[in-house]
Amino acid sequence: MVLTFEIFRFDPEHDAEPRYQTYRVSADPTERILDCLNRIKWEQDGSLSFRMSCGHGVCGSDAVRINGRCALACQKLVKDVAENQPVRVEPLPSFRVLKDLVVDLEPFFEKVHWVKPYLLGSPEVPEKERLQDPEERKKLDHVIRCILCACCVASCPVAAENERFLGPAPLVWAFRYIFDTRDKERKNRLRAVDTPDGAWGCRNHFECTRVCPKEIPVTKSINIIKREIEKVLR
Ligand code: SF4
Ligand code: SF4
Ligand code: FES
Repeated sequence: MVLTFEIFRFDPEHDAEPRYQTYRVSADPTERILDCLNRIKWEQDGSLSFRMSCGHGVCGSDAVRINGRCALACQKLVKDVAENQPVRVEPLPSFRVLKDLVVDLEPFFEKVHWVKPYLLGSPEVPEKERLQDPEERKKLDHVIRCILCACCVASCPVAAENERFLGPAPLVWAFRYIFDTRDKERKNRLRAVDTPDGAWGCRNHFECTRVCPKEIPVTKSINIIKREIEKVLR
């Protein structure tokens, strides 16, 4: 089948305004949108910029907005969008565009780093790794799937209007260490997100949960953090 794409183009160094450029691409129904973007770049227009790496839903680098919904270009198939042509591909909203589909994710990663996504507080250095109890580990199964694609933050209405809001993915990473029984800074971690721009900023719109390509129950995890704050800090 032949698909028509409308792709967001903007080079801040040369363009006064963004524009949409149309491309026609032949593709099989089971091919991915990422295959189409690659075909455009390799066969029609080498100036088109987008990120990709693994091609298999692991690295999180090719998150874009496809027909109004944030998704990984390597997970969305041609047959999923064929009925909604032209297929509009745009950069993740709420982030500054560096070029075409490439956005500046620094503010996103700064917020993830802010929650200290590593084990804290145990001064003794064990001889081997810090072993986790398998039952306790199971409680983290859903959150450790996060690949930091930023689809959730880009879709969150609160993050769109309040840049101070920590946002869904950083809260997922906060959850991952708050509920890791090997971590010794649980109370401080809860205090850190016990703010109007932390866990309490979430207004349960569920957009993050709807778009997460790893099917993480993001909103539910944030609500569990809120309940834990009430239980432990009040
Ligand atoms: S549930 Fe919370 S974090 Fe997720 S999109 Fe809604 S407001 Fe944002
Ligand atoms: S929570 Fe889901 S949507 Fe958000 S960054 Fe992680 S994998 Fe991506
Ligand atoms: S290219 Fe790595 S997740 Fe899509």
